[in-house]
Order: sequence, then C-alpha cells, then structure tokens
Amino acid sequence: MTWNHAMPERPVVAVAGATGAVGIEMLKVLERRGFPAARIVALASSRSAGKRLPFAGGELVVEEMTPASFEGVDIALFSAGAGVSKAFRKAVTDAGCVMIDNSSAFRMDDDVPLVVPEVNPEDIALHEGVIANPNCSTIQMVVALKPLMDLAPIERVVVATYQAASGAGQAAMDELYAQSEQFLAGEDLTVEQFAHRIAFNCIPHIDIFLEDGSTKEEWKMVVETQKIMHAPDLQVAATCVRVPVLRCHSEAINVTLASPVSLEDARSALAGAAGVSLMDDPATKTYPMPGLLEGSDDVYVGRLRVDSTVKNGFQFWCVADQLRKGAALNAVQIAENLLPR
Ligand code: HSE
Repeated sequence: MTWNHAMPERPVVAVAGATGAVGIEMLKVLERRGFPAARIVALASSRSAGKRLPFAGGELVVEEMTPASFEGVDIALFSAGAGVSKAFRKAVTDAGCVMIDNSSAFRMDDDVPLVVPEVNPEDIALHEGVIANPNCSTIQMVVALKPLMDLAPIERVVVATYQAASGAGQAAMDELYAQSEQFLAGEDLTVEQFAHRIAFNCIPHIDIFLEDGSTKEEWKMVVETQKIMHAPDLQVAATCVRVPVLRCHSEAINVTLASPVSLEDARSALAGAAGVSLMDDPATKTYPMPGLLEGSDDVYVGRLRVDSTVKNGFQFWCVADQLRKGAALNAVQIAENLLPR
C-alpha cells in the first residue's frame, strides 16, 4: 500500500495524550520550533476534556479523543499508550491523517518505519500512515552511534542505562519527589509506580522480564537499534536501570568498530554530528550530567576514550532529555520531515 494523501504546507496537527508528560512537551516543542500548523488540536481522555493548556501565548482547550477527532487532521502525534494507539490507528489513517506514534505498539511492524531523523530520515518516505518513534533509551544511543558508524561499521555495542523517572511518566516523577520527602522525614515510603522504592535507590528492572532473563526495555534497545540502523547483525547487549533522577536518561556505551578509527577522528565526527553536543574536557571536569541538562534538545556525549581491552573499541557517556529528544522532539522532527519541501 502506498500513502497517497498530500501533506499541506500548513497541516492541522493533533496531539493525542496532550495532558501527559510527553504530550505537554510535544506542545512546547511545536510552539518553540514554530511548527507551521494551521491549527493544533489537543486531545485526551474524557477525564481531561475541558482542561486548558497554555499554547503560544493563549490556551488550547482539551477535547475528548474519539474516532471522529481525526477528520480534517493531517498529522497526529500520539503519546497516549500502546493500547490507545492500537485502538485509534484505523480511525486516524482512514481520515488520511499520518500517525506519529510514541508508543511501542507498532515499532517492529514491517509496514511501520521506526525513525530517528538524524539517523534514518529516508525511511519516513516508506510510511503507510503510521511512523513510530523509538524508545527513548534507543533514540539517544543511535544518535550518538551514527557518527561513529559513518566512520566504520559497528560490530558490537554494550550499554548500561541510567534512566530517569520521567520515562515512566508524570506520576513516576511525582513519586520520586514524594518518596524523597518521606525518606528524609523518616516516614514509610509509598511505592506505586515502580517495583521498589526509587528514592535513594536504583532499580535494574524496566518493563517486563522476558524468558531469557532480560527485560523488554533491554530487548527494545537491541531490536530497535538494528532496525533504525539497518544493521540486523549488529550485536547489542543492554542493561537498563531506573535511577532517582527526574528527567534525562544517561548511558554508558562501549562500542566496537569493524576497522580502526583514531580517537581524534571519532571526536571530530561526534563534535560535528547533527543533534550531538560534545561536552568532554576532563581537565575542567566537563562532562554531561542529567541533573543539569533538563529541557535541552541535543544528545550530549562526554568521557570519550579508547577501550584498549578490545580491537577498535571506544567508550563514552551520553545524556539526553528523555521527554525532549527521547520523545516529543523526535516526534516533531518526524512531522517536520513530512512537510512539503
Ligand atoms: N521506556 C522508557 C522508560 C520511556 O521507561 O524510561 C521511553 O519513552
């Protein structure tokens, strides 16, 4: 099937899940980047209908999302969860509207491109009505790996993530605040959002466990990276950990290339890459840190060094705002790529 609906120069854009942490960030990113929308429609469940959200100096009134909401809409940015995306897919695409979906519902489907615009923008043209936004921890890793992959094929990646509460949504961020206060006051901690307390703790468990002992979050980093980078044989070993940080995921990445690349070449490739900021000067204790990069757009890379325990190995540290590049910004960048040139 080919998608034969022309995109107007000024599309009507819907944000589905507009009151969630990612939805709110999507509105901010649309506004800040001056997305040329004819109109923005804020959609959410009936519970949130009627709420007012600030937008461009005025307000958007949240409407209840129904299948009819997508008539006359050109692009729908979805951040309402996989079940909602599945339930609304047909209504959205039948209306001639392109769904850019932040959930895991369709990411690995053959007819759905999985896109990070700095890495595989060419895949956008292959869509049949749905384009998937990858998982946040995958997005920042592939943005940082792409400049290295342009120098030499990547053979293997070993990554450990340090994922902020924001990855689990606003309620999880609220719980980190609340538990921290309870902990400092010597009170019992209320644990609802994670398997264990997150305040003053690290939890090596994100999403469900799979039969091989890995978690689904770790599996996503493997298969999504292979799909986005068009590298089905790329080996990825991931350990995903939730840490008591509000927003911004961090990753310790170890990469093995297929042929030699100098540290200087790796450094200049990263420094010049779209969407990457190199923040790397040990002499001045300069490196990216999640607590200081909230609200930033780029993927920050630091601590770049040779891994001399393997042939052609590098290791580095990488931080990005999960709600921005890990979700809302990546989705809006995909939408920008849909605009007529
Ligand atoms: N799955 C990620 C997390 C959110 O739990 O941190 C990515 O959008």
